[in-house]
Amino acid sequence: MKSKKLAMSVLALLVVFSILLTACGQAAPAPATEAPAAPQTEAPAATEAPAAKKQVEVFSWWTGGGEAAGLDAMIVVFNKKYPDIEFINAAVAGGAGTNARSVLATRLQAGDPPDSWQGHAGQELIGTYVKANQLEPLNFLFEQEGWLKVMPETLIPLISANGNIYSVPVNIHRANVLWYNPAILEANKIAVPTTIDEWFKAMDALKAAGVETPLALGEQWTVMHLFETVLLGTLGPEKYNALWDGTLAWNDAEVTKALDNFKKILEYTNSDAASLTWQDAAQLVVNGDAAFNVMGDWAEGYFKELKKAPRTEFGWAPVPGTAGTFQFLSDSFVLPVGAKNRDAAIAWLTVCGSKEGQDAFNPVKGSIPARSDADKTLYDEYLQSAMDDWAKDIVVGSLTHGVVANDSWKTEINDALGIFLTDKDTAKFQAALQTACESSGPCSK
Ligand code: GAL
Repeated sequence: MKSKKLAMSVLALLVVFSILLTACGQAAPAPATEAPAAPQTEAPAATEAPAAKKQVEVFSWWTGGGEAAGLDAMIVVFNKKYPDIEFINAAVAGGAGTNARSVLATRLQAGDPPDSWQGHAGQELIGTYVKANQLEPLNFLFEQEGWLKVMPETLIPLISANGNIYSVPVNIHRANVLWYNPAILEANKIAVPTTIDEWFKAMDALKAAGVETPLALGEQWTVMHLFETVLLGTLGPEKYNALWDGTLAWNDAEVTKALDNFKKILEYTNSDAASLTWQDAAQLVVNGDAAFNVMGDWAEGYFKELKKAPRTEFGWAPVPGTAGTFQFLSDSFVLPVGAKNRDAAIAWLTVCGSKEGQDAFNPVKGSIPARSDADKTLYDEYLQSAMDDWAKDIVVGSLTHGVVANDSWKTEINDALGIFLTDKDTAKFQAALQTACESSGPCSK
């Protein structure tokens, strides 16, 4: 618990750092634009057309694979509570929001924000949207709904800047999960690896036994996801955190070791990774075509949707080297400055933060509720184990899913990763990571 607090205080420092960088005022609610009153020349018609139904446009990337089902479950709660508001689902397909976030950026640039959108707690929110004055503070809603009493203390600094709270977290996801096919491991007498070296040995044995794909991988964001877990597994939580607050240089020898591990791990993956979605890659495991996959626990929501049985058709463990650490991310919804349907957006946010909304969404989505007062009996075996780990593990943040780096830093890391995937030059990759930290992160020359 003590070490958890310590790790989180490092994250909190990151937030403070970004606040210092963000020397800008708070987002003020946009004035409501009113249509000019029409001159009253005639008496109003006796029969008036019925008022148009209110609407709320909610933007996310939850379009399939357990994710859409989770969202749908929360929409049911919303429709029940607000039958007079039409829910417009503006989800854009693509895991981790790769497509959705560029569509969102274009809309924000054009001054056409959706009424609420899915964003990640941490630097994506604070160092990107808050920094650009695109969000309204939500302190009033937290006070009105009593959320400060039920949302975890660790999360509040990651959604706050200058004393204001900017989003409503719906869940906690775990990034550092190793999914495996129990039958393949059993058939080859392989124990679930707990260290990176054991993982190499297991994958060597699988290869020797003719398993073509020991580790299933998908498109580039899933490679970044694997990368962040290997960084954590090699460095441990304190040094991992130190990379994000600038106290450990990216050109440190320990990072070299992590990059060597990462390069070697990639040798065990499928050659068609770039053309696979995260669902395609995860499915290779449950279909018996791969032994392992590293993915956040939305994969569990997907396995459930595929009607796969826990323990027999899929197993889980912390990514080797990361036991005792919970690498987290949190999906949260925001209220943009200039929301066209502000009141309806607040209604949506009220459902996102409610016990009922979270207990409908999370058991399907494969995440645990952000709220601490959820009904545990609604959650399956995996999710109950995630709840236990969240309560006792050291907590660190995810890179791929917006916690530890703002968008510009993450983009530079992603570009360097893309080049590395082509040339496999670890020294060049490491130099590029150091440069990225100097230009967009907290490293000073
Ligand atoms: C993450 C998001 C998760 C899940 C995942 C895969 O960024 O936080 O909720 O949607 O992408 O799409």
